[in-house]
Amino acid sequence: SRLNFSVLLGSLRKSSLNAAVARALPELAPSGVSITPLGSIGDFPHYDADLQESSFPAPVIAMAQQIAASDGVIIVTPEYNYSVPGVLKNAIDWLSRVSPQPFINKPVAIQTASPGLIGGARAQYHLRQSLVFLDAFVLNKPEAMIGQATQKIDPESLQLTDVGTREFLTRQISALVALAARVRE
Ligand code: FNR
Repeated sequence: SRLNFSVLLGSLRKSSLNAAVARALPELAPSGVSITPLGSIGDFPHYDADLQESSFPAPVIAMAQQIAASDGVIIVTPEYNYSVPGVLKNAIDWLSRVSPQPFINKPVAIQTASPGLIGGARAQYHLRQSLVFLDAFVLNKPEAMIGQATQKIDPESLQLTDVGTREFLTRQISALVALAARVRE
């Protein structure tokens, strides 16, 4: 049956490089695979355990349900100060408190884009650490770190134009599809 992966975006910026990468993913998916964006993590309040007790935020519940219903998640995010952006960590903290916790046994691929040379590699390893606690199945390889992203994304159209990057991301999606098939068995 058709596989569906959801995309969790770690930048709220309108002209985000990572958003440009995320927008390209549906076109890069192999046939029989759909890739759909999740809602904005900008709609989540700051994590507060008191809110969790009184009125769990509706956008968190909605996203958790979408993640639970998908065959896997692709997290596309910037690196901030050598780590995971606060807004993304906040979203993960919220999602981790939903029951059933949506990331358990969930295949996850990580993609980071940055104007810098190493493309957000350090954030990926911090993100992996949180996903260990969430008991996700994070794809090991290929790792997708998109360095010098301003040269790979057209500044006018904000489209991911770099052919090599598109091919590489296609390979990572195929690896995620294979991982999801193994997890399903
Ligand atoms: C950055 N940036 C950045 N880049 C990087 O490669 N490593 C880093 O540690 C940081 N740290 C950092 C901190 C903060 C607070 C900001 C605002 C930016 C630069 C970052 O990669 C760049 O702004 C990207 O364009 C952000 O991603 P989006 O929003 O374009 O997807």
